[in-house]
Amino acid sequence: MSNYPETGRLSAPADTTLRIDNIRPYGEGDPVSVLIEDGCIAAIGPEVAEQSADDVIDGQGNVLLPGLVDMHVHLREPGREDTETIATGSAAAAKGGFTAVFTMANTNPVTDQPVIAESVWAKAQALGLCDVHPVGSITKGLAGKELTEFGMMARSDAKVRMFSDDGKCVDDPRLMRRAIEYSRGMDVLLAQHCEEPRLTEGAVAHEGETAARLGLRGWPRVAEESIVARDALMARDYGGRIHICHASTEGTVELLRWAKGQDIPLSAEVTPHHLILTDSRLETFDGVNRVNPPLREERDTLALRQALIDGVVDCVATDHAPHSSEEKCCEFDQARPGMLGLETSLAIIADLFVINGDQDWRFVAKVMSERPAEITKLPGHGRPIAEGEPANLCVVDTNASWTAEAKEMASKSENNPYEGMSMPVRVSTTILRGKVTCRDGNPVTTD
Ligand code: DOR
Ligand code: ZN
Repeated sequence: MSNYPETGRLSAPADTTLRIDNIRPYGEGDPVSVLIEDGCIAAIGPEVAEQSADDVIDGQGNVLLPGLVDMHVHLREPGREDTETIATGSAAAAKGGFTAVFTMANTNPVTDQPVIAESVWAKAQALGLCDVHPVGSITKGLAGKELTEFGMMARSDAKVRMFSDDGKCVDDPRLMRRAIEYSRGMDVLLAQHCEEPRLTEGAVAHEGETAARLGLRGWPRVAEESIVARDALMARDYGGRIHICHASTEGTVELLRWAKGQDIPLSAEVTPHHLILTDSRLETFDGVNRVNPPLREERDTLALRQALIDGVVDCVATDHAPHSSEEKCCEFDQARPGMLGLETSLAIIADLFVINGDQDWRFVAKVMSERPAEITKLPGHGRPIAEGEPANLCVVDTNASWTAEAKEMASKSENNPYEGMSMPVRVSTTILRGKVTCRDGNPVTTD
């Protein structure tokens, strides 16, 4: 089995040449020019500005990063095209600086068979805005009873490389053990939504002082942590590649620190919302703040931030979860869990870690591109900005602050938890295999 399994057939690289002038890879050093030919970086340097190209973008001294990779989104097609489609989700991804995303299997029908995965893959490749990798479900119909045919999906034209019942936990330990043993033979990733369901029945918010005062049923930290601990022990004894979705608690961080200290093969992601928002948001009873796992407390956000810096949590994933207004603008306990994330994540991570001088742009490249590409063994993405590498890139304009407003977003839904918040930087350009998929902050429509 190759270390980097192949992907499905990719949309063709650009047949024109592109030059980006006055740009600083990773925000380092003096500005250079980057020439892109046949979908790859052909040359980098100050002298490259002399070479001709069909299209030239003025980088205005801004930051060039590898195209971002999001291991966890929900694009809702098939089944809920009223809330997001592969087209609108791909546009949102391009606008957010992403060149590859993994869309979860909790669609309708569930992505538990090759034909569904193949249709998602083919639609996204025809659009050419972003590589959308379908995630296959671990159990048939997300019912938690019977494993799906990992091999058929892995070998299909979609080349499924990640399996998850996200939205639900594979809580049956015997089934999880079998899934791990089965996954090993194909070298696919298992992404676990850690939630012991017996501890979260009827829960709508983080179990704590705020939920108690507001009369909301609580979702305790231990519901997440008990599954993280169990799956860490399973990874220790049965191997495989297990990934922890949306880590949300201080205790999960402690468990991951322990597991990584033992060289247990485990990776983990954190969402932007679990890094900056807390359950203090619940006071308004606004359904936009309902999410799974729920917004926790300040000490959890601080532990998660430090864990990301230390590499205990590997990467950022948005868990972009579009929902209709009817499903969000209602009683809090009736609201569907989930928040938009694709178009705001880069700005939030930059604000939290880079603008204050704490971390550099290399850190952003690591947690939003390189690590997610490594964890998913995705070729062509999260690669160094260097000659000969695929031209999957994004430009961050560090002088363009903006206000996050759902009405201005490419996503079809409006459940934006950052509505009205000021964002310090903006993605101005995204490039997929040499093609511009976002220009001047707007996704490029192909028709
Ligand atoms: O808040 C969430 N929304 N968490 C999940 O795990 C699933 C997701 C969705 O599908 O809406
Ligand atoms: Zn989830």
